[in-house]
Amino acid sequence: MAESGRRNPSGAHPHARPSRHLGSGANVVRYARTVEIRIRAAVASDKEAIAAFTQTTFTWGDYVADEFDRWLDDPRGQTAVAVGPDDIPIAMARWSLLSPTEVWGQGARVHPDHRRKGISSRLTEACEQWARERGALVLRLVTEDWNTAAQAQVTRSGFRNVCKWTMWERTIGNAAPSVAGNGGSRVPSDERLTLAGAPEAGPAYLAWSVGAIAAASHGFITERWTWRRMHVQDLVAAARRRALWVCPAGWLIGEVDDDRPDTFWVSWLMAAPDDAHRLLRAAIDRASSEAAERIVFLLPKVAWLDQAARRAGLDAAHNLLVYERPIT
Ligand SMILES: CC(C)(COP(=O)(O)OP(=O)(O)OC[C@H]1O[C@@H](n2cnc3c(N)ncnc32)[C@H](O)[C@@H]1OP(=O)(O)O)[C@@H](O)C(=O)NCCC(=O)NCCS
Repeated sequence: MAESGRRNPSGAHPHARPSRHLGSGANVVRYARTVEIRIRAAVASDKEAIAAFTQTTFTWGDYVADEFDRWLDDPRGQTAVAVGPDDIPIAMARWSLLSPTEVWGQGARVHPDHRRKGISSRLTEACEQWARERGALVLRLVTEDWNTAAQAQVTRSGFRNVCKWTMWERTIGNAAPSVAGNGGSRVPSDERLTLAGAPEAGPAYLAWSVGAIAAASHGFITERWTWRRMHVQDLVAAARRRALWVCPAGWLIGEVDDDRPDTFWVSWLMAAPDDAHRLLRAAIDRASSEAAERIVFLLPKVAWLDQAARRAGLDAAHNLLVYERPIT
């Protein structure tokens, strides 16, 4: 499928030849430009080579080696590697089923010496085959707005950008405005979030699904840096784990981050334009009550929501682009 975006198929992979796919369990020799590669399922002993070539992927390093063992143990997904004739990985990718029809791709990494040889595109093809065999209908992934290489590669592989998101953050030591002369004590926001029960899920979902936030979200909800179609049951589940909050300004899903207990993470919200700032302030107060030191909001790009976030003292830490392509 990665070939579908190519303008000149004859020049794409001159040595390509028909092959069986990873999903069928085959050990298949594939040829990418100028390098002979084989794509196979990752095994525990691949970790060292992956850790070595991903050490400096980003300015801050990389997370794939840390996640590698957990990914191997997770039956919902597949970690694949591209290996050269010596069977040492020179590229990897991870994909998993987020629902029966939605596959999430992540961890695409190609050794810096082997980029622009069509390897990532080959891994994308293997991902699509795996997804098709499981009856999935769509592949998705996210990249940062500065990552033009990733954007070019996935566009070439037939993906399109369907929505933009911003991760907003701020420390909350002095979350709310303080009143001069009273020792800097916090002034509570006008509204106070209280836990919403499961019966709130229906009205919250209905309000969201007809509004601008759902449209900008492309109907998605985020969960641990993945994006998938949202359903009313997601709000029911949030209510049951005591993470769905309500106040007159709107609803949100907010909870202390499992991985970073100093962070209160807001992964979904619903507010009308005039109410957004009040809801964000109420969330910051809530985070403060949870003794969090930092609050994060992962929000779709909507001009009035951006404005409300800045007004609430939030900084845009990451701008994210979600891409998708149907499985054909
Ligand atoms: C992004 C990445 C995975 C691409 O892997 P790759 O194997 O080099 O990509 P491919 O060779 O399959 O690229 C296919 C096409 O994508 C486009 N492309 C890929 N990298 C590009 C770049 N740096 N600049 C411009 N276009 C690029 C080109 O159109 C290319 O075809 P061409 O070489 O015939 O012009 C690789 O650069 C990488 O590992 N980057 C660091 C990790 C990362 O950012 N991962 C993605 C996180 S979302």
